[in-house]
Amino acid sequence: MKICFLGCGNIAQAIIDGLLKNGISSSDIACIERNEQRVESLRAQNLKIIKLEDLALIDLDLIVLAVKPKDALSAEKSISKMAPKVAILSVVAGIEIEKYSQPHCIIRAMPNTACAFCKGVTALYAEDHNSTAFNNANKLFTRVGHVLVLQSEEEMHRFTSIIGSGQAFLFQVLNIYLQELEKIASSNHVAAKSMFQDFISSLGDSFSQDQNFESLISKIKSPGGTTQAGLESLEKNNLDMILQAAFKAAEDRSIEISNEK
Ligand SMILES: NC(=O)c1ccc[n+]([C@@H]2O[C@H](COP(=O)([O-])OP(=O)(O)OC[C@H]3O[C@@H](n4cnc5c(N)ncnc54)[C@H](OP(=O)(O)O)[C@@H]3O)[C@@H](O)[C@H]2O)c1
Repeated sequence: MKICFLGCGNIAQAIIDGLLKNGISSSDIACIERNEQRVESLRAQNLKIIKLEDLALIDLDLIVLAVKPKDALSAEKSISKMAPKVAILSVVAGIEIEKYSQPHCIIRAMPNTACAFCKGVTALYAEDHNSTAFNNANKLFTRVGHVLVLQSEEEMHRFTSIIGSGQAFLFQVLNIYLQELEKIASSNHVAAKSMFQDFISSLGDSFSQDQNFESLISKIKSPGGTTQAGLESLEKNNLDMILQAAFKAAEDRSIEISNEK
């Protein structure tokens, strides 16, 4: 499969890293990027750097549109001028298919940066789920993780919140834990970050062993003990409501972006 990324920032780089790890050759990936620093790091990965005008000259199966929402519509117009027959896979948050100049060419995806480790989750939507382009998009994201095919574009807002943004909310929570660990570890001169790395990897190991959080918690908690006291405090302070409000805020922002001119 021949792919070109227009916009090669955080999410494109994560997808590219995953693809390179899972059987796609760097010679099958072209990149259009205007940020010089990014261009240097793409070159270091032996990726082809091309100009927008070159789109008219090369054979491609998909063009991945991975720019910020503010740049998306003008970038799509330029692509459609240069390569009107190539399907566009947009990972842009919020902007609906009908907003683009060539809506029939657009497939929407909402991946997360775990694609870099081939452990991503990507929501995928297009009006036609049977097209070659949709199959190619599905194959591309299956190489870098799990794919959830959506039946309506409306659902994309919720997936943007939970998949696209949700990872950052958990990083934020883990960072609070890391800061506490650093406070106690510094007096013992222990490398807190390396301890933390093993700790978060052990969370994944625990979940692989027993995919039930209540049961995992029950192995740590004892009646009237310290864990129970802490958990009761989290409940009293409405941790669930705090996180649900964050998911809702991200979803609302996605809807807001879709309504912006
Ligand atoms: N980051 C995530 O985890 C994530 C997850 C899912 C979806 N998304 C979506 O993916 C999109 C990109 O996000 P990101 O975090 O990867 O952004 P980013 O790091 O800013 O990457 C976008 C890159 O595209 C470049 N660019 C913009 N317009 C261009 C053009 N016409 N020609 C060439 N290069 C151009 C930008 O250059 P400048 O810096 O000069 O503008 C920037 O380097 C967003 O729409 C976001 O909603 C992001």
